[in-house]
Amino acid sequence: MITERVSEAADSRIRERIKVHGDPKSSKFKVPEPIVEANDVNFYYGEKHALKDIYMDIPKNKATAFIGPSGCGKSTLLRCFNRLNDLVDSARVEGEILIDGEDIYAPSVDITQLRKKVGMVFQKSNPFPMSIYENVAYGPKIAGEKRKPVLDEIVERSLKGSALWDEVHTRLQENALGLSGGQMQRLCIARAIAVEPEILLMDEPCSALDPIATGKIEDLIAELKSEYTIVIVTHNMQQASRVSDYTAFMYLGELIEYDSTETIFLNPKYKQTEDYVSGKFG
Ligand SMILES: Nc1ncnc2c1ncn2[C@@H]1O[C@H](COP(=O)(O)OP(=O)(O)OP(=O)(O)O)[C@@H](O)[C@H]1O
Ligand SMILES: [Mg+2]
Repeated sequence: MITERVSEAADSRIRERIKVHGDPKSSKFKVPEPIVEANDVNFYYGEKHALKDIYMDIPKNKATAFIGPSGCGKSTLLRCFNRLNDLVDSARVEGEILIDGEDIYAPSVDITQLRKKVGMVFQKSNPFPMSIYENVAYGPKIAGEKRKPVLDEIVERSLKGSALWDEVHTRLQENALGLSGGQMQRLCIARAIAVEPEILLMDEPCSALDPIATGKIEDLIAELKSEYTIVIVTHNMQQASRVSDYTAFMYLGELIEYDSTETIFLNPKYKQTEDYVSGKFG
């Protein structure tokens, strides 16, 4: 009986959703060269239904922003892409997420390989309490790389890639915890790119940074796009419009609207999107 009542509630929610914002399946936004394909993704933390019927593709070598009010599921969706939610007890995912055409929730998937391919940078930078050099060399070392010249080369390339090399190349053996907040965040980006991921997930990477450090990370995102697919969660509308090519607006666990960033900010289809991007709520 309970199941029936739940499914009736789900049915009426879906009917309402289709009436107001269209059918998520048939209105799935088409992107060029999708690298991530999410189909009918539903996500639960115990009873809490945190993601509802998400159909969404992420284009390769572009920056895609997730925006929406606090608690709408942005981080949850981001974490589904590298299965970081697996670490949460009682969490359950339904539906399909393909990366490079492969189902990342298939039993045969090697999670370590997946997380190598899909790197992540968090809101609060989290350098390891070790030297700058060791922070960047950590991933390649875990993956089995022992040759010092190769590690040296990876460290230099990654720190250059994260626009930090010039500031730290004379102090690589110093403890990373002595860096400034913005430097630590760029170190975390260097650490993420050291293992050559295809996709870089960034969950509010600038929210703890001052405008100058934020500007550096935004410039960096523009450069990294040529090599990596970037997905960035941000509360900052200007940032979303500056750095992203595509923007997804989420609300209460649903993907309300997803389109080119220009369309979302200048000519959105739904009033809810317009109200959010123009600061009327959230
Ligand atoms: N570990 C968890 N256990 C239970 N519920 C969770 C957990 N993490 C998130 N939630 C709930 O799932 C919903 C979506 O959370 P999520 O963190 O994805 O939102 P968000 O859009 O990233 O919000 P914010 O902008 O505040 O970071 C929220 O209602 C949140 O309370
Ligand atoms: Mg979040």
